[in-house]
Amino acid sequence: MATLQENPLLEGLQLRRTPDPCALVIFGASGDLTKKKLFPALYSLAFRRLLPDKFAIVGVARTTESDEEFKARMKEAVQQHGRDEFREEAWDALTDGLRYIATDFADERGEDELAQTLAELDEERGTGGNRVYYLAIPPSVFPTVVDALGRRRSAEGWTRLIIEKPFGHDLESARALNAEIQKHFTEEEVFRIDHYLGKETVQNMLALRFANGIFEPIWNRQFVDHVQITVAESIGIEGRAGYYEQSGAIRDIFQNHLLQLLAITAMEPPIDFTADSVRNEKVKVLRALHTPGPKSVVRGQYGRGFVEGEEVLGYREEEGVDPRSMTETYVAAKLYVDNWRWADTPFYVRMGKRLPRRETVVAIEFKRAPHPPFEEISADGLRPNVLLVHIQPDEGVSLEIGAKVPGQGMTIRTVHMDFLYGGTFRTGMPEAYERLILDAMLGDATLFTRTDEVEEQWKLVDAMVAPWKRDRPSFPNYAAGTWGPPSADDLLRRDGRSWRHH
Ligand code: BG6
Repeated sequence: MATLQENPLLEGLQLRRTPDPCALVIFGASGDLTKKKLFPALYSLAFRRLLPDKFAIVGVARTTESDEEFKARMKEAVQQHGRDEFREEAWDALTDGLRYIATDFADERGEDELAQTLAELDEERGTGGNRVYYLAIPPSVFPTVVDALGRRRSAEGWTRLIIEKPFGHDLESARALNAEIQKHFTEEEVFRIDHYLGKETVQNMLALRFANGIFEPIWNRQFVDHVQITVAESIGIEGRAGYYEQSGAIRDIFQNHLLQLLAITAMEPPIDFTADSVRNEKVKVLRALHTPGPKSVVRGQYGRGFVEGEEVLGYREEEGVDPRSMTETYVAAKLYVDNWRWADTPFYVRMGKRLPRRETVVAIEFKRAPHPPFEEISADGLRPNVLLVHIQPDEGVSLEIGAKVPGQGMTIRTVHMDFLYGGTFRTGMPEAYERLILDAMLGDATLFTRTDEVEEQWKLVDAMVAPWKRDRPSFPNYAAGTWGPPSADDLLRRDGRSWRHH
């Protein structure tokens, strides 16, 4: 079997700049994200020697814990959730300068302790006053922390803020958060996370579109019949009722991940790959999105059912959920991008929890061949060409084309031309957070959401949810383990189309 090094496509995978020495401070260090995503990602970066030599991590949270207890918990988390084999040397290199501070930041004591710890680490570890603050904290404590960090900025080095979602609950609250941040930090110092942008396959959409000449001429209303974007999850709310009851599918997935996928699919070619050029093009798409009328939006909530062979509870029966909850766990919508490239081309989008399987895919369906000269038609009919960008799982790109079935006559069947990441590059896929943490350390904001993007995303969501206050659909309206409510099928049927087969 060929070794990894012999695969020529692997060349260049490791070639990246190393960030400046710095200290990474994680607020919300006792939360799930830190355990399941951030530490495993940091470990993988350490494993590949992508972190600076002079580096330190400080965890900050309310839970009382010692440095050693925190370290032991994170070690367990990395062993459980990490994608790489566990090696003590890599773990030690990562956690040599690890500290933990228990505080809720409601008083100056926590601020003092953090400032002092960071000053010590600058001395001991040579982190040079450079700081990355990772805010994985609820919006309610956000202003206090941002204000404290702003007031206590280190006089030396640079400071960067990484901010987790949710970034506000609506346009007004997002603007208030932005105003709070802008009191102390410039836009170049702020890195708003949408972890979908850190996914390899989402970035590959940019490569596919802009590193290949063949797609650009057909990537428009002339050739594309419509686009379908699906973000399907088989999981439920996983004990996050407190958060999900407030957010629902529209704020949890549509406002951020889904709209970013759409923006990347629909954007114009940027003049270069710098943060502002890319984000300028994305924000134009977000601004061009036409607010769908109530008939073009479908909401759903799952009831009991079977997912992947197991019986699961309905949403209203989940722990912490109001038994009469009107929170949606599914949204489908027909959107239009009102510009020259896409006018009159529908973008059908859908996302939901407790669907039959996990699958995120962007499907570009092209117009049919104008005049097929064949008399015999196959059992599955002559279908239009579809370009499928599989974001996850089975990451890759697939083109559906009609091909002749061997034999007499001229029977046409749809076949797939496939590119699969796994088979081609024979290397594991980095987790989104690895890329994003490193990019923020490098000061590269290309894969982060800018203020104006977030605000445009909220404008659309606010307009879509406004009519929801007036009508009450009868929930639950889809069984767990099915592809959403029947009205989502009607949304396409009315246009003579259907959701892609599953
Ligand atoms: C998060 C949502 O942003 O994305 C979760 O809050 C969702 O509800 C998750 O499950 C999906 O991420 P991924 O990377 O598993 O597709």
